[in-house]
Amino acid sequence: MEPVYQLAMVVHIYSAIVLVGSMFFNAFILGPALKRIPPAQAATVGDKIGAGLRIAGPASLVLLVVTGVMRLHHMHLLGKFFGWSFMSTRYGSRIWLMFLAWFVLAVTGTLSLAWYEKVLAKKLPFTAGLRDLEERRAAQQKVSDWQERMNYVNVTIGILAVLGGSFARVGL
Ligand code: HEM
Repeated sequence: MEPVYQLAMVVHIYSAIVLVGSMFFNAFILGPALKRIPPAQAATVGDKIGAGLRIAGPASLVLLVVTGVMRLHHMHLLGKFFGWSFMSTRYGSRIWLMFLAWFVLAVTGTLSLAWYEKVLAKKLPFTAGLRDLEERRAAQQKVSDWQERMNYVNVTIGILAVLGGSFARVGL
């Protein structure tokens, strides 16, 4: 393999580690820790640590698809990628598992960012009353409950993608 494609695979594996690692950290370390500290502090700490995750997530997702497509291009498989004859092979199904997992993570990631912008980080005008504050708090609670569920689903999907990639590699 030429060095540029070798490098692309190194970036692919490293991005997979960063993506799945940060989802794992988010779901099993940060989430439970935030529950053990008072809500006002939890919101600030979660927001500051989340800022890093909001960069690491999209960056690794972009690198994964770019380097994955480069690899397929190098193997002359891009043209066959959407064909049933490729999908139905053992190798093709493993690559598709990765691709579908990537797609779902890109969708849930975008949803998560939109929720963050529109609900979690929403600033109220100075004129806001108690009722507005209460409504925002209720909306934030609802969104964080959904995000917590989504975090567990995302870790599982990430693990499936890693299995797809490693199985494709070793021929399982
Ligand atoms: C959540 C997203 C993804 C994760 C966690 C992931 C993970 C992995 C892993 C762990 C490998 C094995 C590398 C090795 O041992 O050499 C791999 C290989 C690969 N991935 Fe992904 N990947 C993801 C997304 C994608 C996408 C979107 C594509 C393409 C559109 C893709 C295409 C490939 C290809 C072609 C290989 C090489 C398989 C081979 O050795 O022949 N991956 N991936």
